[in-house]
Amino acid sequence: MEYKYSQDDNFEDFACGRVIYHKTGMPSFPVRLANEIYRRCLSYLESKENITLYDPCCGGGYLLTVLGVQNNHSIGKLYGSDIDPTAVSLAADNLSLLTKAGLEKRKQELQQMYTQFGKQSHLDALDSLPVFANLLAKELPSEVFLLDILSDQLADRNFTADIICVDVPYGNMVSWSADDTDAINIMIQNLSHFMNEDTVLAVISDKKQKLNYDQFRRLEKNNIGKRKFELLQLL
Ligand SMILES: C[S@@+](CC[C@H](N)C(=O)[O-])C[C@H]1O[C@@H](n2cnc3c(N)ncnc32)[C@H](O)[C@@H]1O
Repeated sequence: MEYKYSQDDNFEDFACGRVIYHKTGMPSFPVRLANEIYRRCLSYLESKENITLYDPCCGGGYLLTVLGVQNNHSIGKLYGSDIDPTAVSLAADNLSLLTKAGLEKRKQELQQMYTQFGKQSHLDALDSLPVFANLLAKELPSEVFLLDILSDQLADRNFTADIICVDVPYGNMVSWSADDTDAINIMIQNLSHFMNEDTVLAVISDKKQKLNYDQFRRLEKNNIGKRKFELLQLL
């Protein structure tokens, strides 16, 4: 795949566990690819501002946080949900980094850790904080909640996303909550609850999980290393 919208760059300021909070077992995502997928979705939308972005398998919120910082100008609000309460709590911490108060809190934590342990990694993180602050032209509101996206408990959640970006479970680190070979299709069907005819849904997965397009029109399919991502809209 050729990158159309995101430059190759050094993204070490966004490394998991540096400024962005991390817990063992929580995956991250390549920053350049995240930007490329989000910006490809944006290219299909008429309005390029005040975007509502949702990740229904948000894990620790790495993808949402990186997108919120790097694409701050176009995003208006972020939603994240996951089935795992530990992930949801980590995602809330990470999304707080999209506010001045959250960044200030992180600065104090890192300073305290440096005073206590004197590690170079804490100094590096303190050096990276201004990068976040400079990119954060505006603070971004976010909501994070516990939700099994394969369940029928979606009715309480009433918002429409402009872009849904979901990196589904695959590989050794994370798996679907249900032992269901068709989980990915249950998920996309359920996600229609959060979509209108303009919403662009980006589904990132391994190459084994096959999407059923009954309700959807495919805008793009791209392979990149062990992953693929597909962009869909409702029919
Ligand atoms: C590849 S990870 C997502 C990583 C995330 N995008 C990030 O940036 O940290 C997949 C996530 O799907 C979640 N998951 C698994 N089954 C789920 C379900 N039924 N409903 C919602 N989330 C689920 C896992 O808990 C895991 O956090």
